[in-house]
Amino acid sequence: MNSVNIAQGLIYAQNVSKNFGTESQPLPILKNISLQIKSGDSVCIVGPSGAGKSTLLQILGTLDRPSSGSLFFEGMDVLKFDDEKLSRFRNLTMGFVFQFHHLIPEFNAIENVMLPARISGVSVNEARARALELLGQLGLSHRVDHYSHQLSGGELQRVAIARALIQKPRVLFADEPTGNLDSANSQNIQNLFFQLKESLGLTLIVVTHDAQFAKKFSKVLKMTDGQF
Ligand SMILES: Nc1ncnc2c1ncn2[C@@H]1O[C@H](COP(=O)(O)OP(=O)(O)OP(=O)(O)O)[C@@H](O)[C@H]1O
Ligand SMILES: [Mg+2]
Repeated sequence: MNSVNIAQGLIYAQNVSKNFGTESQPLPILKNISLQIKSGDSVCIVGPSGAGKSTLLQILGTLDRPSSGSLFFEGMDVLKFDDEKLSRFRNLTMGFVFQFHHLIPEFNAIENVMLPARISGVSVNEARARALELLGQLGLSHRVDHYSHQLSGGELQRVAIARALIQKPRVLFADEPTGNLDSANSQNIQNLFFQLKESLGLTLIVVTHDAQFAKKFSKVLKMTDGQF
């Protein structure tokens, strides 16, 4: 890591630490982590429960700020952004999928998918067109008007993936995206991630407990106790 140029690569995390404790009772969770991710990489983060995988993913995805260290996107020191600028940057650059779909139950599938675009000021017509295209690509053209209670587990996760992609992100982050699915649906979602990576030119950063899924990534980072 010595000769790493911060302007190189898509993401560069430098000496990132996260402490959830207080000054008198520190609780170090991430311990001086540095890593570089290039555009088009597929990176998998594995390790035992409590190792800090989700914490690291949240920090790489700018959903949380580290206690110390830096995070660069294409050389931009994004932790210097204020919260509003960082939110806008995140909305336009990154998509997120979690173990649970977190769809809004009062909205149907297409309305959920449109939401990140609408938040950023994309017109209803444009957001609807993008959402319809994505839902079609994900095999959900016949489910656009369905609410979450009317969708299966695999369908819910595909709607969540469409929502993560509506803003045409560069990076797709996922935290145990197949953790809640049976093996057939898990296989489908795994394949879908790599198809989308190719067709949309995504960079993938995924946390998983599934060893078979992990094997498909070009880089596997094994975390133990807050470090690699
Ligand atoms: N907001 C918080 N406040 C205090 N401690 C936290 C907080 N978030 C996480 N932790 C602690 O940090 C450690 C790492 O949590 P994290 O969720 O990153 O683990 P993980 O590797 O994703 O585990 P799992 O595989 O179970 O999801 C855990 O011990 C957890 O209890
Ligand atoms: Mg976790």
